Amino acid sequence: MPLNIAIDGPSGAGKSTLSKKLAAKLGIVYLDTGAMYRGIAYYVLEKSVDPAEAGLVLPLLNGIDMNIGYDSSDGVQQIIINGKNVTPFIREHRISFAASTVSKIPEVRLKLVELQRMIASRCDCVLDGRDIGTYVLPFAAVKIYLDARPEVRAKRRYDELKAADRLDGMSYSDILNDVNKRDYQDMHRDFAPLKVADDAVYVDTSDMNVDEVLSKLSEIASKCR
Ligand code: DC
Repeated sequence: MPLNIAIDGPSGAGKSTLSKKLAAKLGIVYLDTGAMYRGIAYYVLEKSVDPAEAGLVLPLLNGIDMNIGYDSSDGVQQIIINGKNVTPFIREHRISFAASTVSKIPEVRLKLVELQRMIASRCDCVLDGRDIGTYVLPFAAVKIYLDARPEVRAKRRYDELKAADRLDGMSYSDILNDVNKRDYQDMHRDFAPLKVADDAVYVDTSDMNVDEVLSKLSEIASKCR
């Protein structure tokens, strides 16, 4: 049976950076499930549909053929929708909340969960998201919940957007406000909300640097395997 490592938590807790590093260290695949929801959100917005309008999003779903690829030069995950690589567009700030909103629709989740489970059944991988340990892979060998104080997570997002020149006039408090709104939405949806799995190891990264978190995660993974 393939090794599956589930890493869940709110935005800015360090999931994608750490999941990518952990997967590289273990020589296994990294699956960023948030990017899949972002891909759907991008597609929906491109069709000028409001991601909060389930009745308008649903008819679009059958027309979405999503494939996951990996760049041959740097191994970075690519989201391909109907043959178009949407990866360059899914990190925009407007996509973050749209992804959270569209992810409340059960049919959207079921479509992506099916793909996530298929990939996880075929290869050793680290998957990061919101519901991996609680819903997608309840029997994952390793489950970790990464967290950090909202102020720390907002500062990380602010620094990231600033470095990428994508702040578009937003202040730190705008970002903190968005982080809190997205946490609330992700934790309070009816279907597969973000929560700590009963058997997950909880790690607060607020006062840890990347190397410290990586060694903590490696230690947890080696104990649980
Ligand atoms: O991890 P991220 O910020 O790229 O995720 C974007 C949104 O997608 C997040 O706010 C909620 C949703 N998401 C989800 O509902 N379930 C997942 N497994 C991953 C992401």
